[in-house]
Amino acid sequence: MQPNVLIYTIMTFLHNLFTAFWIGGMLTLGLSVFPSIRKSLGKGPQMVKLIDTIQKRLSALVYVSILGLFITGAVKAKMVPDFLGLLHFGNKYSLILGIKHILYGIMIIISVLRSRIGWKKENSPNPKTLKIKALMLIINMILGVAVLFLSALNAAVVL
Ligand code: HEM
Repeated sequence: MQPNVLIYTIMTFLHNLFTAFWIGGMLTLGLSVFPSIRKSLGKGPQMVKLIDTIQKRLSALVYVSILGLFITGAVKAKMVPDFLGLLHFGNKYSLILGIKHILYGIMIIISVLRSRIGWKKENSPNPKTLKIKALMLIINMILGVAVLFLSALNAAVVL
């Protein structure tokens, strides 16, 4: 197999794996896990403990995926002739990828801010901050789906 084909295959495999971890993880948490926890355990110490445990386990994976998406994405972009450079909007391909990078940047800021918001009072959830964190997760889920759409569009414009 030609080196370029092998490199692009490995980078695309890893890029998709990191996408599954981060975007897939957010969609699963937001659409299924968190609503089920709230429904079955109510808003008390048990819910706090379970959500805390899940977020602690996921946070390292999310930060590795964020970095991995940038590294694998940068290698892939370098291999596409239409790519003019980071935040260069000089052709359709670079414009779409540039918008994707801006959304990616906003998603990172929201993820970091969200991880910094305290949401517990003693051992019970603080309803106000819990709502803010839920809203931030929903915004990042929508941005993640938009990035997936832009990625598909990117693949199409080089055809
Ligand atoms: C939230 C972050 C991101 C997600 C969810 C994401 C997801 C995807 C997906 C699903 C694809 C299509 C499959 C593939 O070709 O791998 C893709 C393609 C691509 N991504 Fe990303 N990506 C993200 C961030 C980035 C970043 C930061 C870069 C560059 C630094 C990047 C560069 C690329 C490139 C160059 C392609 C190939 C497009 C093509 O020519 O077909 N991505 N991305």
